[in-house]
Amino acid sequence: MMLEVLHNPPTTIPEKVAWLADRYWRFGMEEALEDHLFDLFDVNDDGQMIAKPRVDPLTGESRGIMVLGRSGDGKTALLKRTLRTNMALTELTDDLEGNTLYITVPPEATIKKLAELILAKTGYQKVDAKLRSADAWEMVIHRIGLVGIKAIVIDECHHIFRRGAGRDVAGAIQSLKHIMQSAGGVALIVAGVSNLRDDILSEPSGETFRRFEEFHLGDILPGSKEAAIFAKNFAKSAEVLGVAVSPTDAMAERILFARYGQIGRSVELGKKLLHDAVVRRRDALTLERAEAIFRRSNGTIEMTPFHAASWRSVQKELEAIGWGQ
Ligand SMILES: Nc1ncnc2c1ncn2[C@@H]1O[C@H](COP(=O)(O)OP(=O)(O)OP(=O)(O)O)[C@@H](O)[C@H]1O
Ligand SMILES: [Mg+2]
Repeated sequence: MMLEVLHNPPTTIPEKVAWLADRYWRFGMEEALEDHLFDLFDVNDDGQMIAKPRVDPLTGESRGIMVLGRSGDGKTALLKRTLRTNMALTELTDDLEGNTLYITVPPEATIKKLAELILAKTGYQKVDAKLRSADAWEMVIHRIGLVGIKAIVIDECHHIFRRGAGRDVAGAIQSLKHIMQSAGGVALIVAGVSNLRDDILSEPSGETFRRFEEFHLGDILPGSKEAAIFAKNFAKSAEVLGVAVSPTDAMAERILFARYGQIGRSVELGKKLLHDAVVRRRDALTLERAEAIFRRSNGTIEMTPFHAASWRSVQKELEAIGWGQ
Protein backbone atom coordinates (compact mmCIF):
# COMPACT_ATOMS: atom_id res chain seq x y z
CA MET A 1 0.00 0.00 0.00
CA MET A 2 2.76 2.47 0.85
CA LEU A 3 4.37 2.08 -2.59
CA GLU A 4 1.08 2.75 -4.26
CA VAL A 5 0.59 5.79 -2.09
CA LEU A 6 3.96 7.18 -3.07
CA HIS A 7 3.91 6.46 -6.78
CA ASN A 8 0.36 6.58 -7.95
CA PRO A 9 -1.99 8.59 -5.75
CA PRO A 10 -5.53 9.00 -7.11
CA THR A 11 -6.27 12.61 -8.02
CA THR A 12 -9.62 12.92 -9.80
CA ILE A 13 -12.91 12.11 -8.07
CA PRO A 14 -13.54 8.97 -10.18
CA GLU A 15 -9.99 7.81 -9.47
CA LYS A 16 -10.44 8.37 -5.77
CA VAL A 17 -13.79 6.56 -5.73
CA ALA A 18 -12.31 3.56 -7.54
CA TRP A 19 -9.22 3.56 -5.35
CA LEU A 20 -11.28 3.57 -2.17
CA ALA A 21 -13.66 0.84 -3.34
CA ASP A 22 -10.68 -1.33 -4.19
CA ARG A 23 -8.95 -1.02 -0.82
CA TYR A 24 -8.68 -4.07 1.34
CA TRP A 25 -8.10 -2.91 4.91
CA ARG A 26 -5.99 -5.38 6.81
CA PHE A 27 -7.10 -5.88 10.37
CA GLY A 28 -4.65 -8.43 11.66
CA MET A 29 -6.43 -11.75 11.11
CA GLU A 30 -4.93 -12.29 7.67
CA GLU A 31 -1.83 -13.90 9.14
CA ALA A 32 -3.92 -16.13 11.35
CA LEU A 33 -5.77 -17.52 8.33
CA GLU A 34 -2.52 -17.94 6.38
CA ASP A 35 -1.18 -19.84 9.34
CA HIS A 36 -4.09 -22.28 9.26
CA LEU A 37 -3.74 -22.64 5.51
CA PHE A 38 -0.03 -23.31 5.80
CA ASP A 39 -0.73 -26.47 7.75
CA LEU A 40 -2.96 -27.90 5.03
CA PHE A 41 -0.15 -27.99 2.48
CA ASP A 42 3.30 -29.45 1.98
CA VAL A 43 6.31 -27.22 2.47
CA ASN A 44 9.47 -26.99 0.34
CA ASP A 45 13.03 -26.83 1.63
CA ASP A 46 12.79 -23.02 1.90
CA GLY A 47 9.92 -23.48 4.29
CA GLN A 48 7.38 -22.15 1.82
CA MET A 49 4.01 -23.72 1.34
CA ILE A 50 3.58 -25.37 -2.06
CA ALA A 51 0.44 -26.22 -4.02
CA LYS A 52 0.37 -29.79 -2.81
CA PRO A 53 -2.11 -30.56 -0.06
CA ARG A 54 -0.76 -32.64 2.76
CA VAL A 55 -2.17 -36.10 2.50
CA ASP A 56 -2.09 -38.61 5.30
CA PRO A 57 -0.23 -41.53 3.68
CA LEU A 58 -2.09 -44.01 5.84
CA THR A 59 -5.53 -42.92 4.69
CA GLY A 60 -4.93 -40.92 1.51
CA GLU A 61 -6.96 -38.09 2.99
CA SER A 62 -6.48 -34.32 3.01
CA ARG A 63 -7.98 -31.90 5.53
CA GLY A 64 -9.96 -28.67 5.73
CA ILE A 65 -10.66 -25.37 7.44
CA MET A 66 -14.01 -23.99 8.49
CA VAL A 67 -14.14 -20.17 8.35
CA LEU A 68 -16.95 -18.99 10.61
CA GLY A 69 -18.46 -15.59 11.27
CA ARG A 70 -21.63 -13.58 11.20
CA SER A 71 -22.95 -12.04 8.01
CA GLY A 72 -20.90 -8.92 7.39
CA ASP A 73 -17.90 -10.07 9.39
CA GLY A 74 -15.80 -10.04 6.25
CA LYS A 75 -15.37 -13.74 5.49
CA THR A 76 -15.63 -13.37 1.74
CA ALA A 77 -13.35 -10.33 1.61
CA LEU A 78 -10.75 -12.14 3.71
CA LEU A 79 -10.85 -15.33 1.66
CA LYS A 80 -10.64 -13.49 -1.66
CA ARG A 81 -7.72 -11.48 -0.40
CA THR A 82 -5.96 -14.60 0.81
CA LEU A 83 -6.26 -16.09 -2.67
CA ARG A 84 -4.88 -12.90 -4.23
CA THR A 85 -1.84 -12.79 -1.98
CA ASN A 86 -1.01 -16.46 -1.44
CA MET A 87 1.97 -17.52 -3.56
CA ALA A 88 0.94 -21.15 -3.97
CA LEU A 89 -2.79 -20.82 -4.64
CA THR A 90 -4.36 -19.11 -7.64
CA GLU A 91 -8.04 -18.93 -8.37
CA LEU A 92 -9.28 -20.68 -11.49
CA THR A 93 -11.55 -18.32 -13.42
CA ASP A 94 -12.97 -18.18 -16.92
CA ASP A 95 -9.95 -16.18 -18.01
CA LEU A 96 -7.19 -17.47 -15.78
CA GLU A 97 -5.75 -20.85 -15.13
CA GLY A 98 -5.47 -21.72 -11.49
CA ASN A 99 -5.38 -24.49 -8.95
CA THR A 100 -8.12 -23.23 -6.62
CA LEU A 101 -11.87 -23.20 -7.09
CA TYR A 102 -13.94 -20.50 -5.43
CA ILE A 103 -17.57 -21.54 -5.24
CA THR A 104 -20.31 -19.36 -3.77
CA VAL A 105 -23.29 -21.50 -2.88
CA PRO A 106 -26.61 -19.89 -3.84
CA PRO A 107 -29.38 -19.84 -1.19
CA GLU A 108 -31.49 -22.69 -2.50
CA ALA A 109 -28.71 -24.95 -3.70
CA THR A 110 -28.84 -28.68 -3.05
CA ILE A 111 -25.71 -30.83 -2.91
CA LYS A 112 -26.34 -31.91 -6.46
CA LYS A 113 -26.45 -28.26 -7.47
CA LEU A 114 -23.13 -27.73 -5.70
CA ALA A 115 -21.64 -30.61 -7.67
CA GLU A 116 -22.92 -29.01 -10.89
CA LEU A 117 -21.40 -25.66 -9.93
CA ILE A 118 -18.03 -27.29 -9.37
CA LEU A 119 -18.29 -29.13 -12.68
CA ALA A 120 -19.18 -25.91 -14.51
CA LYS A 121 -16.24 -24.08 -12.92
CA THR A 122 -13.91 -26.78 -14.13
CA GLY A 123 -15.22 -26.39 -17.65
CA TYR A 124 -17.83 -29.14 -17.72
CA GLN A 125 -21.18 -27.54 -18.56
CA LYS A 126 -23.30 -30.33 -19.96
CA VAL A 127 -24.52 -32.15 -16.87
CA ASP A 128 -27.49 -34.42 -17.61
CA ALA A 129 -30.52 -33.26 -15.61
CA LYS A 130 -31.33 -36.88 -14.76
CA LEU A 131 -27.91 -37.52 -13.28
CA ARG A 132 -28.08 -38.73 -9.69
CA SER A 133 -26.34 -36.69 -7.05
CA ALA A 134 -23.90 -39.50 -6.18
CA ASP A 135 -22.85 -39.79 -9.82
CA ALA A 136 -22.45 -36.03 -10.12
CA TRP A 137 -20.07 -36.17 -7.16
CA GLU A 138 -18.06 -38.97 -8.75
CA MET A 139 -17.67 -36.73 -11.79
CA VAL A 140 -16.56 -33.89 -9.52
CA ILE A 141 -13.84 -36.04 -7.98
CA HIS A 142 -12.69 -37.04 -11.45
CA ARG A 143 -12.78 -33.51 -12.86
CA ILE A 144 -10.82 -31.86 -10.07
CA GLY A 145 -8.06 -34.43 -10.48
CA LEU A 146 -8.04 -33.87 -14.24
CA VAL A 147 -7.94 -30.07 -14.05
CA GLY A 148 -5.34 -30.05 -11.27
CA ILE A 149 -7.39 -28.45 -8.52
CA LYS A 150 -5.55 -28.36 -5.19
CA ALA A 151 -7.94 -26.37 -3.05
CA ILE A 152 -11.67 -25.67 -3.08
CA VAL A 153 -13.25 -22.74 -1.24
CA ILE A 154 -16.97 -23.19 -0.64
CA ASP A 155 -18.39 -19.85 0.49
CA GLU A 156 -21.90 -19.63 2.00
CA CYS A 157 -21.57 -23.34 2.59
CA HIS A 158 -24.37 -23.36 5.19
CA HIS A 159 -26.88 -23.12 2.34
CA ILE A 160 -26.35 -26.75 1.37
CA PHE A 161 -27.41 -27.78 4.86
CA ARG A 162 -30.84 -26.25 4.72
CA ARG A 163 -33.50 -28.57 5.99
CA GLY A 164 -36.76 -29.32 4.27
CA ALA A 165 -38.52 -31.53 1.75
CA GLY A 166 -36.23 -33.16 -0.75
CA ARG A 167 -33.11 -32.02 1.07
CA ASP A 168 -30.39 -34.35 2.20
CA VAL A 169 -28.35 -32.89 5.04
CA ALA A 170 -26.53 -36.11 5.83
CA GLY A 171 -25.62 -36.49 2.17
CA ALA A 172 -24.31 -32.93 2.04
CA ILE A 173 -22.01 -33.53 4.99
CA GLN A 174 -20.80 -36.76 3.47
CA SER A 175 -19.98 -35.10 0.18
CA LEU A 176 -17.60 -32.69 1.93
CA LYS A 177 -15.85 -35.64 3.51
CA HIS A 178 -15.83 -37.40 0.16
CA ILE A 179 -13.81 -34.57 -1.42
CA MET A 180 -11.15 -34.85 1.25
CA GLN A 181 -11.05 -38.63 1.03
CA SER A 182 -11.20 -39.34 -2.63
CA ALA A 183 -9.90 -36.48 -4.68
CA GLY A 184 -6.29 -37.54 -4.23
CA GLY A 185 -5.40 -34.47 -2.22
CA VAL A 186 -7.62 -31.40 -2.26
CA ALA A 187 -7.68 -28.98 0.66
CA LEU A 188 -11.18 -27.85 1.50
CA ILE A 189 -12.06 -24.44 2.91
CA VAL A 190 -15.69 -23.97 3.82
CA ALA A 191 -17.05 -20.63 4.98
CA GLY A 192 -20.36 -19.61 6.46
CA VAL A 193 -22.31 -18.43 9.45
CA SER A 194 -21.91 -20.27 12.75
CA ASN A 195 -24.77 -22.70 11.95
CA LEU A 196 -22.37 -24.26 9.51
CA ARG A 197 -20.36 -25.64 12.40
CA ASP A 198 -23.48 -26.99 14.11
CA ASP A 199 -24.66 -28.54 10.86
CA ILE A 200 -21.43 -30.41 10.30
CA LEU A 201 -21.42 -31.39 13.98
CA SER A 202 -24.93 -32.80 13.60
CA GLU A 203 -23.51 -35.88 11.95
CA PRO A 204 -23.70 -38.46 14.77
CA SER A 205 -20.32 -40.04 14.06
CA GLY A 206 -18.56 -36.67 13.87
CA GLU A 207 -16.36 -38.11 11.13
CA THR A 208 -16.59 -35.09 8.84
CA PHE A 209 -16.23 -32.53 11.63
CA ARG A 210 -12.96 -33.92 12.91
CA ARG A 211 -11.35 -33.36 9.52
CA PHE A 212 -11.76 -29.58 9.87
CA GLU A 213 -9.97 -26.95 11.87
CA GLU A 214 -11.99 -23.93 12.92
CA PHE A 215 -11.22 -20.31 12.17
CA HIS A 216 -13.51 -17.77 13.82
CA LEU A 217 -13.80 -14.15 12.81
CA GLY A 218 -14.36 -12.54 16.15
CA ASP A 219 -15.32 -9.06 17.25
CA ILE A 220 -12.74 -6.32 17.28
CA LEU A 221 -12.47 -5.16 20.85
CA PRO A 222 -11.73 -1.56 21.83
CA GLY A 223 -8.04 -1.10 22.54
CA SER A 224 -7.02 -4.29 20.72
CA LYS A 225 -4.28 -4.63 18.13
CA GLU A 226 -6.97 -5.11 15.48
CA ALA A 227 -8.71 -1.88 16.49
CA ALA A 228 -5.41 -0.02 16.17
CA ILE A 229 -4.78 -1.46 12.68
CA PHE A 230 -8.29 -0.47 11.64
CA ALA A 231 -7.73 3.09 12.86
CA LYS A 232 -4.44 3.25 11.00
CA ASN A 233 -6.00 2.05 7.74
CA PHE A 234 -8.85 4.49 8.06
CA ALA A 235 -6.46 7.38 8.66
CA LYS A 236 -4.20 6.33 5.80
CA SER A 237 -7.06 6.12 3.30
CA ALA A 238 -8.41 9.49 4.43
CA GLU A 239 -4.99 11.00 3.90
CA VAL A 240 -4.57 9.60 0.40
CA LEU A 241 -8.05 10.87 -0.51
CA GLY A 242 -7.29 14.31 0.89
CA VAL A 243 -10.05 14.14 3.49
CA ALA A 244 -9.03 15.65 6.81
CA VAL A 245 -10.16 13.74 9.90
CA SER A 246 -9.39 15.23 13.28
CA PRO A 247 -7.57 12.71 15.50
CA THR A 248 -9.39 14.08 18.54
CA ASP A 249 -12.74 12.97 17.04
CA ALA A 250 -11.79 9.28 17.53
CA MET A 251 -13.65 8.54 14.30
CA ALA A 252 -12.32 4.97 13.91
CA GLU A 253 -13.27 4.05 17.48
CA ARG A 254 -16.76 5.41 16.90
CA ILE A 255 -17.14 3.44 13.69
CA LEU A 256 -16.11 0.17 15.35
CA PHE A 257 -18.45 0.87 18.25
CA ALA A 258 -21.33 1.70 15.90
CA ARG A 259 -20.84 -1.64 14.14
CA TYR A 260 -20.37 -3.66 17.33
CA GLY A 261 -16.79 -4.47 16.38
CA GLN A 262 -17.77 -6.40 13.23
CA ILE A 263 -14.82 -5.74 10.96
CA GLY A 264 -16.54 -6.06 7.57
CA ARG A 265 -19.43 -3.80 8.51
CA SER A 266 -17.03 -1.34 10.12
CA VAL A 267 -14.93 -1.12 6.96
CA GLU A 268 -18.13 -0.63 4.98
CA LEU A 269 -19.19 2.30 7.18
CA GLY A 270 -15.69 3.79 7.21
CA LYS A 271 -15.57 3.71 3.43
CA LYS A 272 -19.07 5.14 3.18
CA LEU A 273 -18.04 8.18 5.22
CA LEU A 274 -14.92 8.75 3.12
CA HIS A 275 -16.80 8.16 -0.13
CA ASP A 276 -19.34 10.76 0.90
CA ALA A 277 -16.62 13.33 1.51
CA VAL A 278 -14.90 12.58 -1.81
CA VAL A 279 -17.94 12.75 -4.07
CA ARG A 280 -19.30 15.86 -2.36
CA ARG A 281 -15.91 17.50 -2.54
CA ARG A 282 -15.64 18.12 1.18
CA ASP A 283 -12.09 18.37 2.39
CA ALA A 284 -12.90 17.25 5.92
CA LEU A 285 -15.05 14.63 7.60
CA THR A 286 -16.90 16.03 10.59
CA LEU A 287 -18.84 14.29 13.33
CA GLU A 288 -22.00 16.11 12.24
CA ARG A 289 -21.74 14.71 8.73
CA ALA A 290 -20.86 11.23 9.97
CA GLU A 291 -23.91 11.29 12.23
CA ALA A 292 -26.18 12.36 9.38
CA ILE A 293 -24.93 9.51 7.18
CA PHE A 294 -25.22 6.98 10.00
CA ARG A 295 -28.79 8.05 10.75
CA ARG A 296 -29.87 7.38 7.17
CA SER A 297 -29.52 3.65 7.66
CA ASN A 298 -30.20 3.50 11.38
CA GLY A 299 -33.54 5.19 11.81
CA THR A 300 -34.52 7.38 14.67
CA ILE A 301 -32.20 6.49 17.52
CA GLU A 302 -31.75 9.41 19.88
CA MET A 303 -28.01 9.43 20.33
CA THR A 304 -25.54 7.96 17.87
CA PRO A 305 -21.86 7.10 18.35
CA PHE A 306 -21.12 10.14 16.19
CA HIS A 307 -22.68 12.60 18.62
CA ALA A 308 -20.54 15.72 18.64
CA ALA A 309 -19.05 15.52 22.10
CA SER A 310 -15.95 13.88 23.50
CA TRP A 311 -15.84 10.19 22.57
CA ARG A 312 -15.31 9.14 26.18
CA SER A 313 -18.49 10.79 27.36
CA VAL A 314 -20.53 9.61 24.36
CA GLN A 315 -19.31 6.06 24.82
CA LYS A 316 -20.19 6.13 28.52
CA GLU A 317 -23.66 7.37 27.81
CA LEU A 318 -24.30 4.83 25.03
CA GLU A 319 -23.10 2.01 27.21
CA ALA A 320 -25.39 3.21 29.97
CA ILE A 321 -28.41 2.88 27.67
CA GLY A 322 -27.22 -0.57 26.63
CA TRP A 323 -25.73 -0.02 23.18
CA GLY A 324 -24.16 -3.21 21.98
CA GLN A 325 -25.93 -5.50 24.41
N1 LIG B 1 -10.87 -6.10 5.36
C1 LIG B 1 -11.71 -5.50 4.54
N2 LIG B 1 -11.31 -4.48 3.75
C2 LIG B 1 -12.18 -3.87 2.94
N3 LIG B 1 -13.46 -4.20 2.83
C3 LIG B 1 -13.93 -5.19 3.59
C4 LIG B 1 -13.09 -5.91 4.48
N4 LIG B 1 -13.83 -6.85 5.12
C5 LIG B 1 -15.07 -6.71 4.64
N5 LIG B 1 -15.14 -5.73 3.73
C6 LIG B 1 -16.35 -5.28 3.05
O1 LIG B 1 -17.41 -5.37 3.98
C7 LIG B 1 -18.56 -5.94 3.41
C8 LIG B 1 -18.96 -7.19 4.17
O2 LIG B 1 -17.90 -8.14 4.07
P1 LIG B 1 -18.11 -9.62 3.47
O3 LIG B 1 -19.11 -9.62 2.39
O4 LIG B 1 -16.77 -10.17 3.20
O5 LIG B 1 -18.75 -10.33 4.77
P2 LIG B 1 -19.21 -11.84 4.92
O6 LIG B 1 -18.74 -12.28 6.26
O7 LIG B 1 -18.76 -12.63 3.75
O8 LIG B 1 -20.78 -11.71 4.96
P3 LIG B 1 -21.89 -12.72 4.41
O9 LIG B 1 -21.92 -13.89 5.38
O10 LIG B 1 -23.15 -11.92 4.45
O11 LIG B 1 -21.47 -13.13 3.04
C9 LIG B 1 -18.23 -6.14 1.96
O12 LIG B 1 -18.69 -5.02 1.25
C10 LIG B 1 -16.73 -6.21 1.92
O13 LIG B 1 -16.21 -5.77 0.69
MG1 LIG C 1 -19.73 -13.59 2.23
